[in-house]
Formats: sequence, C-alpha cells, structure tokens
Amino acid sequence: MSLIPLDGPVMCIVGARPNFMKMAPILRALAAHEPPLPALLVHTGQHYDASMSDKLFADLRLPSPDINLEVGSGSHAVQTAEVMKRFEPALDEHKPSCVLVVGDVNSTLACTLVAVKKGVPVVHVEAGLRSYDRKMPEEINRVLTDQVADRLYTTERSAQANLVREGVDPARVCFAGNVMIDSLLGNREHARPAAGTLLEHGIDPAMLAVPSGYGVVTLHRPSNVDNAATLKSLLGVLADVAAELPLVFALHPRTRANIERFDLQAMLKPERMAMLPPQGYLEMLGLMQGATLVLTDSGGLQEETTALGVPCLTMRENTERPITVDEGTNTMVGSDVQAIRAGVAAILSGQGKHGRVPEMWDGRAAERIAADLYRWLQAGAK
Ligand code: UD1
Repeated sequence: MSLIPLDGPVMCIVGARPNFMKMAPILRALAAHEPPLPALLVHTGQHYDASMSDKLFADLRLPSPDINLEVGSGSHAVQTAEVMKRFEPALDEHKPSCVLVVGDVNSTLACTLVAVKKGVPVVHVEAGLRSYDRKMPEEINRVLTDQVADRLYTTERSAQANLVREGVDPARVCFAGNVMIDSLLGNREHARPAAGTLLEHGIDPAMLAVPSGYGVVTLHRPSNVDNAATLKSLLGVLADVAAELPLVFALHPRTRANIERFDLQAMLKPERMAMLPPQGYLEMLGLMQGATLVLTDSGGLQEETTALGVPCLTMRENTERPITVDEGTNTMVGSDVQAIRAGVAAILSGQGKHGRVPEMWDGRAAERIAADLYRWLQAGAK
C-alpha cells in the first residue's frame, strides 16, 4: 500500500513570472478532473512587483495563492535558501500527495530539494529541456530538478531523449505537450490590442501604423544586460532596427536598472522605440499577435511566437527549446550585430520563417497531465 496521502493536496509552486502562465491551466485541469484533485497554490514571492506578479495573476485568472512565502530578491544562494527555509514548514503542515513544480526558476529547484529530501514525490512540468549551457542558472535548475523528480512531463520529444541520456528512467517520463500554449490558446481572444496598450502609457499608437508594422522586444538575461559593453551593443543594433521598424519594448526591472546604471538612456530613440514597463499577459499577447517580428532572449516567447506563427529572433547563443527552431518560427541570432541585422532584413523582405505548430501544442496539455497524475498517484506514485 502507498504511504502517500492520496487525499492530500497537490502542492503547486509558482515563484517567478514565467511560472504563472504554466500553472493557470494546470490548476484548472486539476479542478476539472473527475474526481477533482485538490490543489494548494504556493507563491514563493521570487517576483513580487505588481507588474511582474499581481497583474499576471489577474490576467490569467489565477486564484490568490494559499501561501505566500514572500522571499523577494537576493543572490541566487540567498533566494534559493530563503525559499527552502520558508517552504519546509508549509510542506510539513499541509502533507501534500505531491509537490508540482514548473519550469526552471530558482523557486522550482528550491521547493524540489525540500520535498524530495522529505520523501514527498516531486512532479516536474516542462522537464528535459536543455540548452547545454551550464552558465545559465536555469540550466542548473533544470538538470538538478529532473534528476530527483519522480514524474516528469515533457513539451517536446527531444526532451525525453535528453532525460534518458542523463540516466532518467523513461518510465518516469510522460510526453504531455505544452501547458504554456494551453494558456495562450485559452486567452487569445481576450488579448488587448497593441494600440490601447501604448495609449495607456501615454504613447501615440500612430507610431506603429507604418507599412512595415512593428517589432516587440524583451531583454533580461544576465548575459545580455549585466555587462555594459554587451548591453550597449544590443541597444545600438536595436536603435538601428528601429529606424526601419518601430519597436515596442517591455522592459524587465533588471534591464531598466542596468540602462540607468550604465548611463545608456541616450541610446533609446523615443520616437521609434516605445519603452513600456513589464506587461500583463493579455497586453503581451496583443503586442505579439500584431507584431511583424519579436526580438527576445526569453524562453517562453520563443514558444509563444511559434504557436502564433510570428517570426522570432532570439538573442541568445543556444536554446533549450530546439523545436521552435526546427519546426517553428524561431531563429537564433545571439548578440551578434550582423546576425540580428540580417535576421530583421530577411523578415522585412518577406523571408521570415512561417513554421508549424509542434505536436501536442494543442491547448490540452494540462488536461493530459491531470489525467496522468491521477493515475500515477493512485498507483502509489511509482
Ligand atoms: C527570473 C528567472 C528567469 C526568468 C525571469 C523572468 C531564475 C534563475 N531566473 O530571472 O528564468 O526568465 O525570472 O522574469 O529564477 N525584480 C524586481 N521586481 C520583481 C522581480 C525582480 O524589481 O518583481 C528585480 C530585482 O532587482 C532582482 C532582479 O529583478 O534582483 C532579478 O530578479 P530575479 O528573480 O533574481 O531573476 P530574473 O532575472 O527576473
């Protein structure tokens, strides 16, 4: 007989912005499952700004967290350790059937470590993605979480091969599809039009009404924004691009702070570059849907643009989501100024990638996860 409290809740962990759109459909699917799987939502508080957290909860119709650990910012060690310290008593108190983590942020790994050492089964959604770049903190979080998680749900077939190479028993892995695309498809019709988003920030939307359309930019990876020379070079090429294609930036707090710290404000061209704070989910969806192209270093946007069929240029040297390049609309351009210019020119001349939507990115991934999770828990989490 299983020692797992089957009647205990599935303890669902979110910490940072990219977790919220993954968890929303999972919570709905757990509730809709027959019989329903009880869930408890834990927010570690890694992201705490209204724009990075509360607004997304509202847009995604996420319930208020049952528990907020309020860890806030800090070095990776401090942040991870604080989540672990504060999560342990919550885990002891609520006796969950399992802990469900998503993605690759510090909160994902921190809660995984606490649970696994207490013998509580860990379920990882979006398992097996690998950039094979161990300088990325997210890669470390992914590798370690996957090594100790008990049930692993993948978004693309290459993820299972990555896991098996690392010695993970294939019986622990289930190809379920992409929950982030569940959110995207479920919210598409509620997306807020780009013009209204600009107006809300006092920017004349006429700047977007040019024949080329407009581009959307997000930039926040430490490797792109924490070094003055790299950030300066990227802002320089983006200013060049803006001369041809107006750009809408959704600025991460880290990037905004570094532009000020390195005194780079003069590189921004307000008449062709709309500088916005971090956007809500529905605003971002509206901006992306209407865009000619997206320039980003985000993981999530690579997948969302592939699902939307919008060409994406990714300003990174590698991707943990290769299907977006092989099948989707994504092209890797790194921080190479020539590659970025060439990528933009190709798209503006009509040679952007069209791509196709990958297998099982169909809006039903969370439903498949809930069904499998129920069976797995019933079988004693083995
Ligand atoms: C984190 C994730 C990254 C994800 C990104 C999306 C890790 C290792 N990284 O990176 O995978 O793509 O979130 O945003 O978990 N800050 C605020 N307000 C907030 C949150 C952060 O001002 O609500 C500022 C703080 O100065 C903080 C900095 O942003 O030091 C970085 O935040 P942090 O959570 O450490 O990492 P991200 O760069 O956001």
